Amino acid sequence: MFNLFIKPAVRVKNPFNDAPIFYMDTVSSTMDVCRELERENVPHGTVIVADFQEKGRGRAGRSWQANGGENLIFTVLLRFGDFSAIPTALTLKTGLAAALAVEDFVALFCERGNLSCMVKWPNDLMFDSKKIAGILAESDGKNVFIGIGVNVGQTVFPTELREKAGSLALTTGMADVVKSARFRLLELILGRLQQELSAKDWRERLLGRLYKRGEAVRFIVGRADSDVTVEGVLVGVREDGGLLVLPHGAEGPSVFVTGELDVY
Ligand code: BTN
Repeated sequence: MFNLFIKPAVRVKNPFNDAPIFYMDTVSSTMDVCRELERENVPHGTVIVADFQEKGRGRAGRSWQANGGENLIFTVLLRFGDFSAIPTALTLKTGLAAALAVEDFVALFCERGNLSCMVKWPNDLMFDSKKIAGILAESDGKNVFIGIGVNVGQTVFPTELREKAGSLALTTGMADVVKSARFRLLELILGRLQQELSAKDWRERLLGRLYKRGEAVRFIVGRADSDVTVEGVLVGVREDGGLLVLPHGAEGPSVFVTGELDVY
């Protein structure tokens, strides 16, 4: 068996049938460890959480940087069977679940709990207009590995991220409290994720939290380095998770399944 141990601080109840939650101080990336665990036949819903990643990765080949011991960094294994591509709706349902959990978490500690945590299509969480979390979904054609990084206790960011990045510590002003409760946030996210994966009405909840909905946006079509862009009004998302943008001057919305919003 894989040489992992469950640290007492991570005694979190896993709503995915009590699947194991493994903890490691330092990993290359929880995505890699989760893939290794998958090969050990661990069950659906198994989680690997770490305090520091040496090679944390983000979407589109970017890196994910997070100070050690201050944030929430984990990957959950979803055993779905065969499929040809990761459904866009899965990333959005995950984003919705994480946004709801962040709201629940903040409400435990302070009155700013009435702030909405927004989902920036397709994979970012925005709180107080700053990115506080990112989601990375990878697959091996049979299983999906959902990686989530939430900036919890971090208050200082590298220069290039300073304008864009936020954290729950900065939003609440309670760095020590949120940092020491970060595994409670893990429990809340897993609970919400388990619910949203089987919910029929996820889109209704998402639409109220869809970042920039009803506003003018610039959308980068396809890959992040693509020079094809569309400007228009962000209208909503389809049942399959595709983003609906009404280009300026057009009669009906266009649907996008890959790409990202160029707005902060
Ligand atoms: C993004 O915003 O581009 C997605 C960031 C995803 C980061 C998380 S942290 C846990 C998991 N392990 C990784 O290496 N990446 C994801």
